[in-house]
Amino acid sequence: MSAFTGQHILSVNQFERDAVEHVFRVADNMLPYAKRQKRTQVLDGAILGNLFFEASTRTRVSFGTAFNLLGGEVRETTGMSNSALAKGESLYDTARVLSGYSDIIAMRHPQAGSVAEFALGSRVPVINGGDGANEHPTQALLDLYTIAKERISQGANIDDLHIAMIGDLKFGRTVHSLAKMLSLFKRVKFTLISPTELSMPTSVCDTITDAGHELIITDQLEGIVEADICYQTRIQEERFPSQDEANKYRGKFRLNQQIYTQHFKSQTVIMHPLPRDSRIEANELDNDLNMHPNLAIFRQTDNGVLVRMALFALTLGVADKVSDFDRPVHWFTNKSNQQ
Ligand code: CP
Repeated sequence: MSAFTGQHILSVNQFERDAVEHVFRVADNMLPYAKRQKRTQVLDGAILGNLFFEASTRTRVSFGTAFNLLGGEVRETTGMSNSALAKGESLYDTARVLSGYSDIIAMRHPQAGSVAEFALGSRVPVINGGDGANEHPTQALLDLYTIAKERISQGANIDDLHIAMIGDLKFGRTVHSLAKMLSLFKRVKFTLISPTELSMPTSVCDTITDAGHELIITDQLEGIVEADICYQTRIQEERFPSQDEANKYRGKFRLNQQIYTQHFKSQTVIMHPLPRDSRIEANELDNDLNMHPNLAIFRQTDNGVLVRMALFALTLGVADKVSDFDRPVHWFTNKSNQQ
């Protein structure tokens, strides 16, 4: 058992540096299972309620995959209109009911604060899979885990990092959570690049500066050649009052091979929480970088499974028992060869 056992995971504010590093050590132990070198039944009989009231591909599916890889089963509901919330049921009632059917719940909802409100009615741990423009704590953990791995491969660690966050920093919940979590580390330099109207919320900037980190706010790509990480984001069009309003900001901070070469050093790692908007007019993160070795976006998505496995194992109190329930893998798989 650890301090995580039975706890909700609602916000990055819950985490100290030690806790983050503990999650990462447990995530490292999950690699043989994610690579199908072996499997475990440590959560045999446990049920995840996977409740996604807002669109998602990777968070929803990777939560489910992570739970299955630990031997548990997944029950899902997707979309607001398919749930009794559309009939006026409160989050509290929904939580009381669904926590009777599940051992743990992962949830995404379009309103800021909704997952925390839901957790008040839940009798099982609740993990925030994104609440409106507020937070996305598991994305921050997988992003930071990815940063740690990329930095280790360059002979460095998270301390002394220079990160450039680019794009819609106002509505992009992943950058809010990641910036706060990075603030737990030492001597991090943040360069925040966005149109003024889409700048990082003051509360997040205050967290950065209160922790003593260097903070540069700009609407220009110039001057970031030394950034170790370029964290690109999508214009969160679903949070704008109209499509026309969102369209004003499309393509402002396009990243492609030519722009990358012009503005960044050759070691700069390119990250993006995904989805990236690949429509022609989006001009966001171009496909011509797809084969670039510094493009870490699919390493991020793979790492999401490891980190979410770790969170399930920790919150359900089985992190030190996972290998006690090992089984062989007996089907064809080439996952061990995948990067
Ligand atoms: N990064 C992320 O939250 O992706 P999805 O919206 O597909 O879950």
